Amino acid sequence: MQFIDLKSQYELIKSDVLKSIENVLEHGQYIMGPEVSLLEQKLADYVGSKYCISCSSGTDALLMSLMALDVGPGDAVFTTPFTFVATSEVISLLGATPVFVDIDELSYNISPRLLDEAIRNIEYEKSLNIKAIIPVDLFGLPADYVELRRISAKYDLPIIEDGAQSFGGKIGEKMACSFGHISTTSFFPAKPLGGYGDGGAIFTNDKYLKDKVESIRVHGKSSDKYNNIRIGINGRLDTIQAAVLLNKLTIFDNEIQNRQIIAEQYSSQLGDNFFVPHIPQKYTSAWAQYSILADDSSHRQVCMQKLKDKGIPSAIYYPIPLHLQKAYENLRYLKGDFKVCENISERIFSLPMHPYLTKTEINQITLLLNN
Ligand SMILES: Cc1ncc(COP(=O)(O)O)c(C=O)c1O
Repeated sequence: MQFIDLKSQYELIKSDVLKSIENVLEHGQYIMGPEVSLLEQKLADYVGSKYCISCSSGTDALLMSLMALDVGPGDAVFTTPFTFVATSEVISLLGATPVFVDIDELSYNISPRLLDEAIRNIEYEKSLNIKAIIPVDLFGLPADYVELRRISAKYDLPIIEDGAQSFGGKIGEKMACSFGHISTTSFFPAKPLGGYGDGGAIFTNDKYLKDKVESIRVHGKSSDKYNNIRIGINGRLDTIQAAVLLNKLTIFDNEIQNRQIIAEQYSSQLGDNFFVPHIPQKYTSAWAQYSILADDSSHRQVCMQKLKDKGIPSAIYYPIPLHLQKAYENLRYLKGDFKVCENISERIFSLPMHPYLTKTEINQITLLLNN
């Protein structure tokens, strides 16, 4: 059994993918070819955002968003410690300081109440400029943007939505990756909309930010590539990846629907023995991961071993919260600083999740876990 089965998906779209890759090889515009702008249009439409700027990865999407907001040394950027390191790494790369805020115990996303407190503390201390908030839509579930938007307006702080895992998720009819002043996503192969290599995208309704990100994406260019008006990076999406993603987009809604059905089957079969994902009313997760809580770390170990013995993969996202990572020693956080995420990181584990998982496979997994 696969944790994420990309092979079955490939079999389904193989001839179209091969045709469109061949098409790129024929026209030869490997960098910023016509597939790139077509994909950007389709993604912007899908998300309901005015602009989409495709790019080299979800990490670079975050990096370029922070650069567009002029984040740098002396700035505080508030984020969750319960995420992949890319979210905070880019803050540090720019010389700014990640300020971690504990998560909500039901959604595992940043707690708006604790965020408000953390912002007030930093304001009071006056050691850093409060600069931006990066909520993460963990496992595909959008964060609480009603409250986050209220806090953003109260302190005049832009939101960068890290939607690396949530493309395809929504709140009501509003799509994930449309909730931030800038929103980002990742097309890493294992993501809900994944390419056959690295890739990412940035979404915004703000023309100024869109123009700035487009300049940063190509070495800080002006309208002329060799007239450089700011420091940028090489952050473009390859044309071949855009061609692949255009094909994947055609089956994406179907896949997201399958993920819902699979998650519902898991939850109904596991809900008596495990803490299963809590999806608030009107929210739709993109189900990048299906993660449950064991009673404690030894119970988790037993469960994962039972699966492993039958050749079923499972994974822990994330075993070490960011504030306890060696890379962040310098920030001097201690164990106990963020009790909710520390507790969850000891109990959480993720089960196979992809649109091609069968009922029989789910039955096999849940039977093992329930006994
Ligand atoms: C929450 C989160 N942010 C950012 C990233 C970075 O995306 P990429 O791997 O495309 O650089 C990831 C990807 O794993 C992620 O899960």
